[in-house]
Amino acid sequence: MTDKPTLTTTGGAPVPDNQNSLTAGPRGPVLMQDYQLIEKLAHQNRERIAERVVHAKGWGAHGTLTIENDISKYTKAKVLQPGTKTEMIARFSTVAGEAGAADAERDVRGFSLKFYTEEGNWDLVGNNTPVFFVRDAYKFPDFIHTQKRHPKTNLRSPTAMWDFWSLSPESLHQVTILFSDRGLPVGVRNMNGYGSHTYSLINDNNERFWVKFHFKTQQGHQHWTNAEAEQVIGKTRESTQEDLFYAIEKGDFPKWNMQIQVMPETDADLTPYNPFDLTKVWPHGDYPLIDVGTLELNRNPENYFAEIEQAAFSPSNKVPGIGFSPDKMLQARVFSYADAHRHRIGTHYESLPVNEPKCPVHHYHKDGAMHFKSNGCPVDAYYEPNSFNGPVEKPDVAEPPLKITGDAARYDHREGNDDYSQPRALFNLFDDGQKSRLFSNIAAAMQGVPEEIVERQLKHFELVDPAYAAGVRTALNAS
Ligand code: NDP
Ligand code: HEM
Repeated sequence: MTDKPTLTTTGGAPVPDNQNSLTAGPRGPVLMQDYQLIEKLAHQNRERIAERVVHAKGWGAHGTLTIENDISKYTKAKVLQPGTKTEMIARFSTVAGEAGAADAERDVRGFSLKFYTEEGNWDLVGNNTPVFFVRDAYKFPDFIHTQKRHPKTNLRSPTAMWDFWSLSPESLHQVTILFSDRGLPVGVRNMNGYGSHTYSLINDNNERFWVKFHFKTQQGHQHWTNAEAEQVIGKTRESTQEDLFYAIEKGDFPKWNMQIQVMPETDADLTPYNPFDLTKVWPHGDYPLIDVGTLELNRNPENYFAEIEQAAFSPSNKVPGIGFSPDKMLQARVFSYADAHRHRIGTHYESLPVNEPKCPVHHYHKDGAMHFKSNGCPVDAYYEPNSFNGPVEKPDVAEPPLKITGDAARYDHREGNDDYSQPRALFNLFDDGQKSRLFSNIAAAMQGVPEEIVERQLKHFELVDPAYAAGVRTALNAS
């Protein structure tokens, strides 16, 4: 007698034998009617789904966002009202490596958050950096090609990276962060997160404010040098997964202070920089950080694949009181992610438990592969308008009109754009040790890159600060 449950087929019928295939005689061959053997092999062939085209290696956990301060004068979003506690899930990632890449690699980290609010899912799909390498989505696929493998060598190509960066001075700010200490955090608990883009907040009076979201680590910043990371990778390729998983498992829950910077809508025309340019920050001196609340991760997934690999984050998921901005990159991302999810996980990816909103969902989409949930409409209401009490729109959540001016054209985003002042402000924050590691990290990453490309890049460093170029040149000569 046993109290273990009975093994069944996926059809629910009991399986008589899970050790021996059905054969004609003890030596075989196998009979085709051994459906259970065929099903096992067929299922195995389908265990992998396409990996994310970027940010394939990831780590994640469940948690809560608690709002401690009153920012209701800026937003009516229920998730951001004082005292509100919202369940959420986070997924962190490196950008360039494939799903099996080592964790301790120098790379930007993804910082994706999905808040299951009572008004729908709000996704903030950010990074551990406040800026990005490009400012026009037209250049995003080109940039990513330089981070992935060369078509012939099948190796990553420093030449491609520095060729692109040196021809794209808007990348300087992010390149400086990437090769600074913060470009190689020991794990995700020890880094900040940023919404990076400018978004908007809308209050009860339908007034719009521009906003930047920040999540400051309470665990303190910790980084590895290149040499330390080599040692780590020699011992384990899963250093971040181990760090996050076991911290949460033992009840040492990582936390971040959520803060915002707020800009009145009309200020956008007054700042000396374009506040919708993703290669720029808003200086804290101009737009100080405002405390909002605390993000805490406190529960490991029970099933990594179901809850983290199948998690589908998209900047298009927003709720009333939170909106987009004219940022060209954000506009493209609003399209790109849902498209990626339909390809990677399927038409009904939003019905999967990890992605499913925790509020009522009613829509008129119909059918499609893996349609396993009702769309929440009465049976006769499968089109709109209808006379059968089907769901209807809610005009009071419409955003205030946004004034747009200008002629449709392809404007040169590099013309008259200052790509050097903000990297300079960052460079000036570094102490001598940080500067010296910046120089040597860059020199190490430039090994084998043709001289003319290196010289082109050094000219950009020179325009940030002559000491920046000189430091990298000295490090190159020493390597
Ligand atoms: P502040 O002195 O007010 O802020 C400096 C910021 O730099 C802090 O947020 C700090 O983060 C962060 N920082 C410190 N070291 C590093 C590093 N190695 N890599 C990335 N960030 C770092 O100055 P400003 O607001 O005037 O900004 C000056 C420069 O600081 C900017 O040009 C930008 O490069 C960088 N920065 C600015 C941010 C902003 O939103 N204004 C955000 C992040 C960076 P922490 O508080 O966690 O220590
Ligand atoms: C993942 C596109 C810029 C952060 C992805 C994915 C795509 C994509 C297609 C894979 C999604 C999936 O399969 O699940 C783009 C495009 C961009 C852009 C077209 C520019 C136009 C950015 C920026 C940030 C960012 C600026 C951060 C500020 C992320 C993160 C992920 C991701 C964190 C991983 C999401 C997860 O954890 O599942 N991006 N991206 N991306 N991107 Fe972007």
